[in-house]
Formats: sequence, structure tokens, C-alpha cells
Amino acid sequence: IPTSSQKDLLSLKDYTSNEILDILNLAVELKKPENRHLPLLEGKILGMIFEKSSTRTRVSFEAGMLQLGGHAMYLSTRDIQMGRGETIADTARVLSGYLDGIMIRTFEQSLVEELAENSTIPVINGLTDDYHPCQVLADLLTILEHFGSFKGRKLTYIGDGNNMAHSLMIGAAKVGMDCTIAAPAAYFPKQEMVLLSQEIAKETGAVIEVVEDPIAAITNSDIIYTDVWASMGQEEEALERMKHFQSYQVNEELVSHAKDNFIFMHCLPAHREEEVTTEILEGPHSVVFQEAENRLHAQKALLVTLMKS
Ligand code: CP
Ligand code: NVA
Repeated sequence: IPTSSQKDLLSLKDYTSNEILDILNLAVELKKPENRHLPLLEGKILGMIFEKSSTRTRVSFEAGMLQLGGHAMYLSTRDIQMGRGETIADTARVLSGYLDGIMIRTFEQSLVEELAENSTIPVINGLTDDYHPCQVLADLLTILEHFGSFKGRKLTYIGDGNNMAHSLMIGAAKVGMDCTIAAPAAYFPKQEMVLLSQEIAKETGAVIEVVEDPIAAITNSDIIYTDVWASMGQEEEALERMKHFQSYQVNEELVSHAKDNFIFMHCLPAHREEEVTTEILEGPHSVVFQEAENRLHAQKALLVTLMKS
């Protein structure tokens, strides 16, 4: 079991390349059929706070805890006092007395940071407006399974410069994989995230770029990634956004510029015929369901790393 210098997982930017690779290697072990039910977190309890919807994150964390011999507790902010204004700091101190870890999905990254600062137990970011680090752990595991290594590979993310774009740039930079984001200029990833990723990439030799032209971006790509054009919380912008993203749909014509053996990835849920055609999503290059399954294995490795005493 790898040891982590980190109490929490708020963003992959806080982890060293080796810490990330250790989690991925442990995930590979835990994924083996004979290791699926190792009781490495026997009796441990994970609280899961959700302020947004979820299928994969909720079910994979809960199933993962059960497979590890522990327990998980779903806490909707519609039900707990935090949703009625109890402070984050008080919530953190109270939950620290009952639980062994907290996973939280919410809007603002600063809320997750405040929760972590005031908790004595690990806090895991299960998606904010800025980051989705658990998804990227699963994505890196999927890429590793498919290509065997990261160096020399190029991931191109086509679409909104959102939480997925941010976390993919950082994750790619950490493991030394090239990453290009193609987005309309008004929807570029946050500049601070781009600069941060480029700074990290100096140590690993990765090339991190943001461009407008999807065809130039996709040329020579090994991995094509997309996500919804309107994220959770942006529902009322959906029609407006659809206009700006028309030429960013991942379809047969666009992927014809990628390498012949490219893989297609999507964090899901997908909007078919918007950011990706059904033909691509269901086609022979798509690994989206392997990727979704890997949420379970990558997060089990993360949980064990952070919560095993
Ligand atoms: N990819 C992902 O995080 O899915 P959910 O929103 O279903 O958790
Ligand atoms: N960018 C999407 C990812 C969902 C898993 C969102 O934040 O809604």
C-alpha cells in the first residue's frame, strides 16, 4: 500500500507524479478478480456529501467502500443541516467525530478546501466547478491499460474548458503526457489552470496547449476526450452554448484527423448528437464504459491510500 504525503485529494496538482502513479498501480492490483474484495478498509465509514446529481461517483464510491469491507453514507445537502446554513467548519468538525473520510461534490472549490481545513479526516473532491480529480485518476488508469504508458502520447480534449479540461491538463502534465485543449475562445479553460499545468509540465516534458481550431488540435492524437457543453449548474446557458460549440462536435469527420488507433473517452453522462455522435460514442474506438468502470478501481486505490490506518 503506497503512503501519501497528502491528507486529502482536493486537486491532482497537490500530488507528485509518483504519488499518482502509485495510486494507479494499486488500482491495477485491486482490479484483479482475486483482489476485488480485500477487506483493506474493514469497519471504516465514508460520508458522501452531494450538492449535485451523480450516478458514477455515488455508486462507485459506495460500492468501493463495501468491497473494501467498509461502509458509505449518502448525505444530500437537501437533507443535512449544511444545506440550511450550518457552517462548513462546524460540519467538518462534527463529521470528523463520526467518520473516517468524506467525499464531497459541490459547486465551489473553496468550500471543499474549507471542509478539508476543518476536518481531521481525509476529504476527497468528487467534483467541483473547477476540478474532477477522481475522474482523471480513472481516465489515466484507462489510458495506462490501453497504451501501457503515458510518455509520447497525446490527449486532445475538444469542447468546454471546464472542470474536466482543468483536471485533464493537470493530470496529463503530472504523468508526462501531451494535452491539447480545443475550445471556442470564450470557453477556454481558466488561464491560471493553463499556466499551472504548463509549470508542472516543465518537470515531466509534457506539452500543454490551448487552441481554438479542433482539427489542428486533434491531428496526431492518441486519445480524444470530450464532455458536455453545459455542466451541472449551467443548464440555463445550454442553448446559447450549443451555438458556440457546433464545430466542436466529435464526429467521424473530426476524428479522421486523429491517429488510426485513437481511443475515444468521455467522463459521462453524454449528450448524444451534441458533443459527440452516437456513431463515435458507440463505435469501435470508444472506451467510455471501461473508463466508467475504472472509477471504481481507481477510487478504491485512492480510498485505501488515504484511509488505511
Ligand atoms: N463522470 C461522473 O462523475 O459521473 P456522475 O456525475 O454520474 O458521478
Ligand atoms: N463537466 C461536467 C462533468 C460531469 C461528470 C459537469 O460538471 O457537470
